[in-house]
Amino acid sequence: MATKKDPYATTPKIDFSKPVDGSILKGESVLVTGGANGIGAGIATAIAEAGAYVTVADINPTAGEELVSGLVEKGLHVQFCHTDVTSWSSQLETFKRVLSFSPSQTIDVVIAVAGLSGTSIRHWLNGPTDANNEPTPPPTRVLDVNLTGVFYTMHLALHYFRDTGVAESSVRSKQIVFMSSLAGYLALPMSCDYQAAKFGVRGLFKSLRTRTGVLGEGKPMLRCNLIAPTFIKTQMTAMLEEPLKKIEIPMAEVADVVDGCMRLVANEETVGRAIAIAPSRDGKPGSGNFDLCDDYEGLDAGRETLNKLRDGTLGGDAVADLGVFTDAQAYTAARK
Ligand SMILES: NC(=O)c1ccc[n+]([C@@H]2O[C@H](COP(=O)([O-])OP(=O)(O)OC[C@H]3O[C@@H](n4cnc5c(N)ncnc54)[C@H](O)[C@@H]3O)[C@@H](O)[C@H]2O)c1
Repeated sequence: MATKKDPYATTPKIDFSKPVDGSILKGESVLVTGGANGIGAGIATAIAEAGAYVTVADINPTAGEELVSGLVEKGLHVQFCHTDVTSWSSQLETFKRVLSFSPSQTIDVVIAVAGLSGTSIRHWLNGPTDANNEPTPPPTRVLDVNLTGVFYTMHLALHYFRDTGVAESSVRSKQIVFMSSLAGYLALPMSCDYQAAKFGVRGLFKSLRTRTGVLGEGKPMLRCNLIAPTFIKTQMTAMLEEPLKKIEIPMAEVADVVDGCMRLVANEETVGRAIAIAPSRDGKPGSGNFDLCDDYEGLDAGRETLNKLRDGTLGGDAVADLGVFTDAQAYTAARK
C-alpha cells in the first residue's frame, strides 16, 4: 500500500561537513533588513562578495551608508535604504527599491535580521506609574521591530516573489531566511518581549516552511529556513561579554552566523530547516553550528537543545542565573 506523503515534511537534516558554494548567488537580488551592523552587516557583505545585488535596509543611516560605501568601493553591488521595519510604507518603499536595483528586476532572497534586544519585565514591575499611581503601558517597540517588522517583511517578500520573475542565475527558488534566536527555543527568564517575538518569528517560519508551492502554479518554489543564534559578539550583546566570560559561557562570532546563513541560502536542497549558531569548536567559522531538528522527529528541537544544554554548548542554567536581560534592558534604555 502506498504511504501518504507527510505534508509537514522538510528536507533532511543539514550535513555541516559539506562545503558551501556561494557562487550560485551571483546576480541574485537580495534584501537584508538590519544590515547596517553586526550580524546583518556580516551577511550582507558575504552575499555581496558572492556577486549578488544586495540592499541593506536599516534604521541607522550612518552605519548603513558607511558599510555600503566601503563595499561599493570594492566594486560590489550594494545599496543602502533607510528603513524602519515597523513602518509598512517604509518597507514597501524599500522593496520597490530592491526591485529597481536588480538588473533582472527581481527580488530573490529576503533575510529578515533587523532586531532589538529585550526589555526586562522586572523594570516594568518596579514602575513607572502615572500621576494616579496607576501603571503605564510597557513599551512594545521590541515586539514591533522583532515580530511585526518581520511579519511585514515576510508579507512583502511573498508579494514580490509571486509577482516578479527569477534572476538570471543558477538559483531557481525564492527564499526567506528568518532570524530567530535560541531565545525562540530556550527560556530567557524575564525577557518576555524578546522571547515572545523570537518564538513568534519561529511561528512564522513553521507556518510557511512546508508550503513550497504557495507562490502559485508556474511560479518559483518558496524556500524558508531559520537561524537561531546563541550569544553573538555584536553591539547588541556588548554589555554581556564580561558577565558571560565570568561564568564561562563562550560567545559565537558574526562569522559563525554568516557561515550558517550562506549554508542555507546557497543550497537549493535545503528547505524548512532551522539551524542553531553556536561557538566554533576548532576556530573554523560555523564548526559549532548544528541543525535543531525543529520537527516532529526532533521533538520540536527539544532533543537537540537538551543534548547541547547537557554538553555545555549552550550554557545551560548558568544563562538563566545571569539575569542578563535586566542588564540588556538598561542597555536598550541607554541607547535611546
Ligand atoms: N547578538 C546576539 O547575541 C543575537 C543572538 C540571537 C539573535 N540575534 C538576532 O540577530 C539580529 C541582529 O542582531 P545583532 O546582534 O547583529 O544586533 P545589532 O544591534 O548589531 O544589529 C541590529 C540592526 O537592526 C537595526 N534595526 C533596529 N531597529 C530597526 C528598525 N526599526 N528598522 C530597521 N532596522 C532596525 C539596527 O540599526 C542594527 O543595524 C537581531 O534580530 C537579533 O535579535 C542576535
